[in-house]
Amino acid sequence: MNQQLRRKNSLWSSETMKGRKSGSNNSFSIFMLVFSIFVFGVFFMFSEDLKSLAEFSFFKPNSSQQIQQQQDANNATETSKAQLHQKEEHNEKEKIELPVEKEEEETVELPPEECDLFTGEWVLDKESHPLYKEEECEFLTEQVTCMKNGRPDSMFQNWRWQPRDCSLPKFKAKVLLEKLRGKRLMFVGDSLNRNQWESMICLVQSAVPQGKKTLDKSGSISVFKLEDYNATVEFHWAPFIVESNSDDPKMHSILNRIIMPESIEKHGANWKNVDYLVFNTYIWWMNTPTMKVLRGSFDEGSTEYDEVERPIAYGRVLNTWSKWVQDNIDPNRTKVFFNSMSPLHIR
Ligand SMILES: *[C@@H]1O[C@H](CO)[C@@H](O)[C@H](O)[C@H]1NC(C)=O
Ligand SMILES: *[C@@H]1O[C@H](CO)[C@@H](O)[C@H](O)[C@H]1NC(C)=O
Ligand SMILES: *[C@@H]1O[C@H](CO)[C@@H](O)[C@H](O)[C@H]1NC(C)=O
Ligand SMILES: *[C@@H]1O[C@H](CO)[C@@H](O)[C@H](O)[C@H]1NC(C)=O
Repeated sequence: MNQQLRRKNSLWSSETMKGRKSGSNNSFSIFMLVFSIFVFGVFFMFSEDLKSLAEFSFFKPNSSQQIQQQQDANNATETSKAQLHQKEEHNEKEKIELPVEKEEEETVELPPEECDLFTGEWVLDKESHPLYKEEECEFLTEQVTCMKNGRPDSMFQNWRWQPRDCSLPKFKAKVLLEKLRGKRLMFVGDSLNRNQWESMICLVQSAVPQGKKTLDKSGSISVFKLEDYNATVEFHWAPFIVESNSDDPKMHSILNRIIMPESIEKHGANWKNVDYLVFNTYIWWMNTPTMKVLRGSFDEGSTEYDEVERPIAYGRVLNTWSKWVQDNIDPNRTKVFFNSMSPLHIR
């Protein structure tokens, strides 16, 4: 909680994701998986998001930065290839010691708890990534199928997060599913988090046979159910986390966005008894320098609003949200993550 509160104003920070340090291995590995799905998230720009960004020149790529990134990427490829090669050799040795058919190992070696997972770099990893292929996941919506939509390059799927001082375990769908057994994992937020949710479904679905997995979309809640595991991976469309006039996933005002920064109970009712909550609110803030804050409430039919500086309004929302978490979340059961700035759909 402290971490969340301290990072309340991190809208402009470059950190991608912050989580509460947790004591339990379960949540730790879930967290890392959530974190790592950024690598192959398939990014596609929705029209509303495009409008959001059109006016902001700081999103235009800086070509010298891009070149530098490309160079880094080339270097990273070499480095990670070398590392992987070493790992392969190591694995072969293990196999010789255990000639009996080795069933898919169900345990993972976790990095030390004190390792700072947030300090590190993205590396290109063609050996272990992508972790799933677009065409193998029937649950992706058309809007996030980059290859099908004609994106010519595919390398963007190969990025893997490499912490500086330790390594994340290789992803295994079955291990994650075991961690999720009898549990609910829910993403809450805008289309960027919906993108992460779809990726998470694609990550685990291949380990589950047909007929044992269902996707049910109803209103602002979508539930992916894994029958044999009694587990769900859910998404709640709430682009500002708090109440807004954009809460209907299909019929929402795109340009005229009005929020109620102190109103969260209605949405929060959906977040109770969830074991892992991953929140975000980002892209819907990016169209104007001020936010429209409703005077009164939508239920009462209020239409008047105040224009509030964006960082102030964002701070109010995060205050409301963190107070909700404090008042409603049993930290012994539920782990809460907040994903601040993140890559956009396009890149
Ligand atoms: C682009 O980024 C580089 C490296 O960060 C910086 O030196 C340069 O001034 C930037 N150029 C522009 C036009 O912002
Ligand atoms: C790339 O890696 C080599 C060694 O493998 C190193 O000498 C060089 O400084 C690296 N370049 C960059 C841009 O990091
Ligand atoms: C299924 O999971 C829910 C929590 O999501 C739990 O309350 C319930 O007891 C579980 N049912 C079984 C049969 O394990
Ligand atoms: C969480 O668990 C600890 C130890 O098991 C216990 O002392 C504490 O009261 C629990 N907290 C809540 C909010 O249930």
